[in-house]
Amino acid sequence: MAAGKGTRMKSARPKVLHHLAGRALLRHVLDTAIQLSARRAVIIVGHQAEQVQAQVVSWPPQNLTLDFARQEPQLGTGHAVQQALPLLADDGVTLILSGDVPLTQAHTLQALIGACAGQHLALLTLDLPDPSGYGRIVRQGQAVQAIVEHKDASDEQRRITEIYSGIMAVPTRQLRSWLARLDNKNAQGEYYLTDVVKFAVADGVPVLAHRITDAAQVAGINSPLQLAELERTFQLRQAQALMEQGTRLADPARFDLRGQLLCGPDVEIDVGCVFEGRVELGAGVRIGAHCVIANAQIAEGAVIHPYTHIDGEQAGVQVGPGALVGPFARLRPGAQLGAQVHIGNFVEVKNSSLAAGAKANHLAYLGDATVGERVNYGAGSITANYDGANKHRTVIEADVHVGSNCVLVAPVTLGAGGTIGGGSTITKDTAPGALSVARGKQISVANWQRPTKKK
Ligand code: UD1
Ligand code: CA
Repeated sequence: MAAGKGTRMKSARPKVLHHLAGRALLRHVLDTAIQLSARRAVIIVGHQAEQVQAQVVSWPPQNLTLDFARQEPQLGTGHAVQQALPLLADDGVTLILSGDVPLTQAHTLQALIGACAGQHLALLTLDLPDPSGYGRIVRQGQAVQAIVEHKDASDEQRRITEIYSGIMAVPTRQLRSWLARLDNKNAQGEYYLTDVVKFAVADGVPVLAHRITDAAQVAGINSPLQLAELERTFQLRQAQALMEQGTRLADPARFDLRGQLLCGPDVEIDVGCVFEGRVELGAGVRIGAHCVIANAQIAEGAVIHPYTHIDGEQAGVQVGPGALVGPFARLRPGAQLGAQVHIGNFVEVKNSSLAAGAKANHLAYLGDATVGERVNYGAGSITANYDGANKHRTVIEADVHVGSNCVLVAPVTLGAGGTIGGGSTITKDTAPGALSVARGKQISVANWQRPTKKK
């Protein structure tokens, strides 16, 4: 169900497209559904349907058949599910999920489907110290009799702390017959999905409550505050899982992972780092404070100093063993650093490889460059890789020493072991072993008299 308005988000963006840990809420739900190897998923859309649909189809295709059902207008959760019925086969089990409840785990849903066993009505429930607002599970003895919505509940029913999570597993054939019997004679004038419980009881179909204790798994998002709170809960759990494997986080409360982080042994991560996409950290890697790292592989023993930004996007970034990067460095897509490479402050590297032992320590740009072993690339030097229309490569062979403040106008090759004098603008290939200087010659005028102010 993803048709509701989400008024309390106070946002132009559809609620189910807000992000938790870098992924849309609805995408969390779909990713979980994929793990259940469902026959198909039907997404019920209504409010801002086009936007939601366009997003969903833009996500990488998964092993799941997706369909959309339109709910227009939105007359309640029962009415929502009615719109999906034509797409559902009678011989199956329907699992009803909410697009704004992102953290339900696959094993929990598996257990719920197990309780349904193709013939019962299975409800996911939870005890809450403050159940207000939720539908209450009304029992007689142990047997579930009904779900009563908060607004319809008596004072006595409102004291019930067991709530309905909004998630149920139900045999599709029965669901169809029960939904046909819904009405909207209730406090909200809506067609309540939860009314299927009383029909099940009337038909003698057992209603089972699968009661869990982990509130985060059924927490729904209605407001920016709830979104932020659930984000912190989720991040803390990810941090704990990493620490259980031995990763040392300076502060699990100041750690953000929006994707996948694979850590070798003895990895240390200082405070305030953000990891996105897929990041691999080899044994003994240290990440300094406040780094943002996305789609990168960082090999064993490398050290990333504080305030470094690494974003591999599609092409990825590779940092070799024992490399030193930062502080304040920027590695962009296609940066490939070999072993023991040093990249210092305010150095930007894009689509360039640096072989083992190469160094660019200060204020420099390397774009579309192939840099050989042990090259020393001086402060303030840049590759002029773009002629306004096309990009060209710069090749710097092994052991070249590029002085400070050089402009290497690509395409150009600097021969192995050569030296480039500081301040040179290099437009032609240089010979191996040579000193190449391309700048205005220094002149000195003896006893130069500075101009004086006119009287
Ligand atoms: C629902 C349950 C309540 C439960 C609670 C858990 C009903 C009648 N009540 O209440 O028992 O405790 O969830 O969070 O089901 N939606 C549609 N179309 C609609 C209305 C809603 O698609 O016409 C979607 C919403 O986008 C949302 C989900 O259904 O994803 C739940 O709707 P919401 O309005 O939040 O239901 P609650 O009133 O919270
Ligand atoms: Ca809700």
